[in-house]
Amino acid sequence: MQDQLSALLAKAAAELPAVKTRPEFEAAKARYVGPHGELTALMKQLGTVPKEQRPAVGRLINEAKGTLQSHLDTALARIGEAELAAQLGPAVDATLPSPDSGPGTIHPLTQVREEMCRILRKVGFSIADGPEVETEFYCFDALNTPSDHPARDEKDTFYFPVSARFGNVSKKVPEERYLLRTHTSSVQIRTMLKGPPPIRIVSPGRVYRRDTTDATHSANFHQLECLYVDRKVTVRDLKALLDYIFVALLGKDTKTRFRPHYFGYTEPSFEVDLSAKHLPKVRKEWIEIGGCGMVDPAVFDAVGYDSEVWSGYAFGMGLERLAMLLYGIDDIRYFYQNDLRFLRQFG
Ligand code: DAH
Repeated sequence: MQDQLSALLAKAAAELPAVKTRPEFEAAKARYVGPHGELTALMKQLGTVPKEQRPAVGRLINEAKGTLQSHLDTALARIGEAELAAQLGPAVDATLPSPDSGPGTIHPLTQVREEMCRILRKVGFSIADGPEVETEFYCFDALNTPSDHPARDEKDTFYFPVSARFGNVSKKVPEERYLLRTHTSSVQIRTMLKGPPPIRIVSPGRVYRRDTTDATHSANFHQLECLYVDRKVTVRDLKALLDYIFVALLGKDTKTRFRPHYFGYTEPSFEVDLSAKHLPKVRKEWIEIGGCGMVDPAVFDAVGYDSEVWSGYAFGMGLERLAMLLYGIDDIRYFYQNDLRFLRQFG
């Protein structure tokens, strides 16, 4: 019996390491320990062994069974590893140099934003920030926008459900709704409520409108807002500042012009057009770039400034529009697609 067991184990030790697949393994296993297996057959012979030898032979068989099982376990583990390796594909050598090791580039919108802020800081403006989740008070009411104004329509503005709570965004009136700000003009109100004039701030940031996306519209875009409040501020100061920033950003041949317009928060109000025919792809003589005007006394009243003493100007413009003009980009969607072929051009 001992010889038969040793022969069986030797055979298993030689045969099992060569087994490659799960079906082969199952077949080999059946040949040893299946109902008609070789070890099973030897175990059946135990009954024919003289009674006094049975405990010793039984022990030998058990030992052999244990050894065989460990051969089987090793073979199965090896097959499992091979299967996993096949699923994972060829090994990756993490020490190889990357095929794409170049440094990243700064997004064109970030470049325009930073350049504008740098230009404005030079003439005394400091950066102000405000939340993108706003309330009706900061976005509309305090900016003298009546409750039936079309800009406040559900069709144009993303409102949160009345049940929404944003503990970090202060409400002026308990019953007002939260919304995604439709313009950065809300930061004017937040800034003025923080302290007295003089004020000279620039506030770049994201804004949201219920627009259908196309080459010139996006439901989420960026604006840059400026507010200047002091004694005896005039339209001439406003025009001079706009001339200065656009020449600084786009070159000395850039011109600006004002067209009368209406905004609730400024009086008089203007739309600002740019002429910059020296830029690539600019064919139109005048391009609308933003809105501006002299801060309306009603806005000063809303923040508790004395409009007899203080005067100011404000303007806001779209950063995408400016970047498209500066770089000759003809579709706003490029800014958000993160296509490296686009982004790499702004290194
Ligand atoms: N908030 C306006 C818009 O989103 C832009 C604007 C117009 C900003 C006039 C101003 C302003 O500060 O005075 O279209």
